[in-house]
Amino acid sequence: MKLNKISIKNAAEQLNVSVVSIHNWIKDGSLRTTDNILTQENIDDFRDDFLKNKKLSSRANKQYKDLHNHKTLTEVIKNDLQSAMSGDDVSLKYESSLSESYKNKEGIYYTPKYIIEDMLKSIGITENKTFLDPCCGSGNFIIEAIKKGISPENVYGFDVDENAVAITKKRIKEISGHDSKNIICADFLSQQPVANSQQFDYIFTNPPWGKKIKKADKVRYSYFYNSGNVLDTSAIFYFACLNVLKKDGMIGMLLPDSFFNIGSFENARISLLSLKINRFVDYGKAFKELMTKAMAFIATNANSQQPTANSQIQCEIYNVKKHLRSQESFVDIPKHIFNFHIEESESDIIRRVFSLPHITLKDNAKWGLGIITGNNEKICKKEKTNGFVPIYRGKDILKNDLAEPSLYIGENLEGCRQVADLCLYKAPEKVIYRFISNRIVCFYDTEQRYILNSANLFVLNEEFPISYSQLVDLLNSDFMNWLFRSIFNTHKILRSDLEALPIIHEYFKENEVFSEKTFKKYLSIL
Ligand SMILES: C[S@@+](CC[C@H](N)C(=O)[O-])C[C@H]1O[C@@H](n2cnc3c(N)ncnc32)[C@H](O)[C@@H]1O
Repeated sequence: MKLNKISIKNAAEQLNVSVVSIHNWIKDGSLRTTDNILTQENIDDFRDDFLKNKKLSSRANKQYKDLHNHKTLTEVIKNDLQSAMSGDDVSLKYESSLSESYKNKEGIYYTPKYIIEDMLKSIGITENKTFLDPCCGSGNFIIEAIKKGISPENVYGFDVDENAVAITKKRIKEISGHDSKNIICADFLSQQPVANSQQFDYIFTNPPWGKKIKKADKVRYSYFYNSGNVLDTSAIFYFACLNVLKKDGMIGMLLPDSFFNIGSFENARISLLSLKINRFVDYGKAFKELMTKAMAFIATNANSQQPTANSQIQCEIYNVKKHLRSQESFVDIPKHIFNFHIEESESDIIRRVFSLPHITLKDNAKWGLGIITGNNEKICKKEKTNGFVPIYRGKDILKNDLAEPSLYIGENLEGCRQVADLCLYKAPEKVIYRFISNRIVCFYDTEQRYILNSANLFVLNEEFPISYSQLVDLLNSDFMNWLFRSIFNTHKILRSDLEALPIIHEYFKENEVFSEKTFKKYLSIL
């Protein structure tokens, strides 16, 4: 008999789990193979076992409990759509029936109503205007757009999920009586749906964040949409939407905070700065299942309204505070970070600091990571014994000080999984700093200490114009920490962020020892 053999990777995709889980289940017998070959029948049996609640091994159950059967769910949703149940209720039921792993993989987190209402409040005269949600899910943006007066005939939506598309159509029919032909099950990024070069007056969406797509597709999209090296689906959707936005059309997107403040999204931010940006809104942790914060921009594809030096952006922390920032004030922030939570006056200080003569750590230092032991309990000891030396964690590093050592490691670092170039740890002088922290906390080390991977290090190039002590005092200062927080707003001290900071070295020509007061005076901000 010829067996219908399938690969481990395929099995993992079908079951929505990692390749490692498949290997584990085969190993512990939860997932049976036939003559040592994994077949489609084996996968189907496994799924049936799970659905009929047969006893799987406790480990398999734990790993598998987050899985729903999409085929069965699709049948249920199809029936619900034919029933008297309202489209709104089917939408809620559908989203809550999807497993977390599936939602994560496909980027399916439908936008809460209060955010949609808030984002669409800037839509003006809607008569004859077209509206697109390129990945409409169950139609939350579309339904609100119709409620705002967009004609249901002028509303367009795409989604790769057939259930979501069917739910959106039902909801449109329920609120307007219109049988829409413009809600289509298709991959928007392939742009086939809008091949006849249709363009839209309004494009509002919450695209999938960080959905995995094939490398070849990413390269194709980058070429197709001129999106440079952006890799995240949220940014690729941004560029794809721009392609079909009318001149003077309005675009609004709900995105992960990384779009606003991480280096790899800089291309998208530079592109957005060529539009007229109307609003930035920080909605905080809008999705309870996600750690990531949700933030939105709303912008106009400036034709008649080119952004000028006076263009103002309404910046909001939702329900907390609002202020205006000039669009220009984002142009010379490092990496074009949209640090819209700070006010114009604070942004002026940042720009003033960057306008003074300064150097940076970029190309002026060698960098090293803390040691990854692979198993601290096994490799490190709590007591000092022969051949063991202290090793410091991020939390042991204090503002220009060190906590008493409480961990020790074999001096030759035997058995450690990842170790930087030894000469970096052994450098006669180096700076060690906490990695996970919302402020820069660093220490000038002259005793060749080892650090674990919750800390990192750098060694200055010889010609660096200020001393280690001066630099460490500066980096630990309240002013530099304010600057760091105001630009990067992060909980990780990344090398690339430290490298972007301005080091005002000339201050030390007049002041041998750092003080907050004389520094602010030097910057003329007292
Ligand atoms: C975060 S959900 C948001 C749905 C809807 N826009 C909302 O705000 O409620 C993202 C949606 O994108 C869809 N999607 C993922 N990749 C897509 C693609 N290439 N083309 C169209 N839709 C896609 C998913 O099925 C999902 O419904």
